[in-house]
Amino acid sequence: MTALVTGPAGHGLGGRIRVPGDKSISHRAVLLAARAAGTSALRGLSGGDDVARTVAAAAAFGAGVSGSAPGEVRVAGGPDRIREPDAVVDVGNSGTAIRLLAGWSAAVDGLTVLQGDESIGRRPMDRVAEPLRTMGASVDGRQGGRYAPLVVRGGRLVGIDLRPAVASAQVKTAVLLAGLAASGATTVREEVPTRAHTEELLTACGADITVVPGAVTVRRSELAPLDLDVPTDPSQAAFWVVAACIVPGSDLVVEHVYVGPGRAGFLDVLARMGADVTLEHHDPAARTADIRARHAPLRATDVGGGEVASLIDEIPVLAVAAAVAEGVTTFAGAAELRVKESDRIATTTSELSAVGGRVVARPDGLVVSGTAGAPLRGGDVTSHGDHRVAMAMAVAGLAAAAAVRVAGWEAVATSYPSFEEDLRRCLSLSS
Ligand code: S3P
Repeated sequence: MTALVTGPAGHGLGGRIRVPGDKSISHRAVLLAARAAGTSALRGLSGGDDVARTVAAAAAFGAGVSGSAPGEVRVAGGPDRIREPDAVVDVGNSGTAIRLLAGWSAAVDGLTVLQGDESIGRRPMDRVAEPLRTMGASVDGRQGGRYAPLVVRGGRLVGIDLRPAVASAQVKTAVLLAGLAASGATTVREEVPTRAHTEELLTACGADITVVPGAVTVRRSELAPLDLDVPTDPSQAAFWVVAACIVPGSDLVVEHVYVGPGRAGFLDVLARMGADVTLEHHDPAARTADIRARHAPLRATDVGGGEVASLIDEIPVLAVAAAVAEGVTTFAGAAELRVKESDRIATTTSELSAVGGRVVARPDGLVVSGTAGAPLRGGDVTSHGDHRVAMAMAVAGLAAAAAVRVAGWEAVATSYPSFEEDLRRCLSLSS
């Protein structure tokens, strides 16, 4: 097990930083490229293990995958190439990979077995299995088909009209991927909008898709190949933005971040907290911007309701911001945190408390009492095998009076292998 020790920073974070390509977009681009007839060129893919698993899965289904540089992949795809994989497909730690691949394999005439690590074995799969069964796929798994490994026999599918019980872009995407091969229309309705990458990329591939507020419909489609530069990941940018907000003297720019629908909620929360965060070079058509963050005193806010889906992955690091803000910040309506890579309500509470944060867990969220700018104490924590908990605690260390030692640091390899390198860069580029 490896550990990272951070802080106290001593001086602000500065310079410009480019975080990895967006993970959600990367998974989707690879799977759509594998289905599109012809060769897609994808640049700037997330370099973590999660997306590497989806790339390997696309190859296992028969797509031709070749890479020339880190993050650059050419995918030769199309219905003529795609067949059942010869072996079990291992998604590692990636919940997005297994849920998207469940929908993807439902559209493949054959048998697919999807498995992952111990954390994947604890994450609910019925949310995708049930609608895929309704569409005509056979989906089995442990505990009556509710947990991985999943065994999917795909083939003849019929479209459905679905209103998922949980607001989940993974469920929406799994069903839409299956819908690309189904007879009739497949509609997914959402009360709370979730990230829209699948709709954006399906449109770019020329799919038969209709998007209206609250609903997206696809029909059986031939897809055209993608030529795509993946923007950088707002969920990874959030670690640096919060770090700059809470470390005195910081002035940092995170470049070319995706700030489109369903992903930028953490910026609204930080704005309510009084953070000095602005968008530069905002390109609404490309849905990208540079995010500039400078240190400023933060005040508490209440996070909940419809905005939670747009910042669910950022809650551990927003809790770190709340821990040094003035007042009591609440996070509510976020029970989904309990079924992420770790139970993030429990792990954020235990680890942030271990470094001096005042955090109380609620069934559906957190209550964080801030220090009004005083540093956290510091101490030893563990990642619980969860990349976002690891990085949130590394950020906490930068605003602590004594070092924070994050055991289980290797978890960051799933999404952000170069985090430590980037940290060194933005610490030495300031002062
Ligand atoms: C993701 C959707 C979210 C998010 C996950 C990535 C996606 O999960 O937490 O990290 O790429 O669709 P849910 O769909 O379970 O909310």
